[in-house]
Amino acid sequence: MTGPIAARPARSARPARPRVLCVDDEPGLLKLVARLLERMDLDVSTAASPNAALTLFDDEHFDLVVTDIRMPGMDGHAFLAEIRGRDPQVPVIVATGHASLDNAIRALRDGASGMLIKPFTAAEFETEITNALQRARIRHDALQYRLLTPILDGVALALTAAIEARDLETGDHCRQLGTLGERVATMLGLSEQERTTIRIGGYLHDVGKIAIADRILLKPGKLTDEEYAEMQRHADIGASIVQTHEAMTDIARIVRHHHERFDGAGYPDRLAGEEIPLGARIISIADAFSAMTNDRVYRKAIPEDQAWEEIRRNSGSQFDPAIVELYEIIADADAPPINGAAAVTPRAVVDPVVAAARPPRLSPNAP
Ligand SMILES: [Fe+2]
Ligand SMILES: [Fe+2]
Repeated sequence: MTGPIAARPARSARPARPRVLCVDDEPGLLKLVARLLERMDLDVSTAASPNAALTLFDDEHFDLVVTDIRMPGMDGHAFLAEIRGRDPQVPVIVATGHASLDNAIRALRDGASGMLIKPFTAAEFETEITNALQRARIRHDALQYRLLTPILDGVALALTAAIEARDLETGDHCRQLGTLGERVATMLGLSEQERTTIRIGGYLHDVGKIAIADRILLKPGKLTDEEYAEMQRHADIGASIVQTHEAMTDIARIVRHHHERFDGAGYPDRLAGEEIPLGARIISIADAFSAMTNDRVYRKAIPEDQAWEEIRRNSGSQFDPAIVELYEIIADADAPPINGAAAVTPRAVVDPVVAAARPPRLSPNAP
């Protein structure tokens, strides 16, 4: 009989050091294995029988289980099934002698994550344990990432809505930036995490405007030098707002540097070329495009083809020319068949394979 999964102790109780449960009916071997694990700075619990091990497993959280196959009372296969019934994810390493190699192979088929053939050296043991813990951590992080990313998107969009409610002209500007930026990130073959960073960076790029006074933010006319300097502070303020946790560092860097220029004449840090984070170089082009194609208090929107033309004109000075070329592919893909002013919508992301097969057009200003 297997225990209910709901009965497992809460994961939030996870201690800092990985916890390992060892079960073996040979006291000498159990002691040796425990010593090796402690030398690896792991927190070790031992059990002389599968039943004793299950009692411990029901009460505490473990990151790894190391078990013998041949044990009286309950063999390793039955024990593995009990563990899997309680926790389908926890890695289980099976230690066995040559004579029971078939058993070990069967255990691997039944969901064991690794195998140690006795007698094993300390180095073999450490490698197997380290690999199992690392694989489990990667799986755990990937799962967390998948679970948390939609929440992060939701929170970022809620913040964005708060800015947009105040600065009426921007409409869905921030969402548009996130979508466009992610499309370019996909074309560059960036990882899922990097794409998410750029998308959320796009959503949040202007979050610092929340601290800019209405008389400046909503001023219909040209800003004075002093007002412009005040407006520029939104990049720095936004980065401080976003930098709430070290996991937000890369997003905060996009927010801070989205007004840097490729030639080094931007703000706040006058970074140039590749000193500017890639995500910020991507988002700054989407920002300019979106700003030009939406009505603002101080000027009317211009058609998309004119906006792309303007971006091309500033390729190499304001914008990274290599990224401008990627946006040109998007512009071509989104261009309506008949001249019109269709908004850039979150349509299908440009297929990276198709993008790779279509060499980007050189912009007139490319070096
Ligand atoms: Fe901005
Ligand atoms: Fe913006």
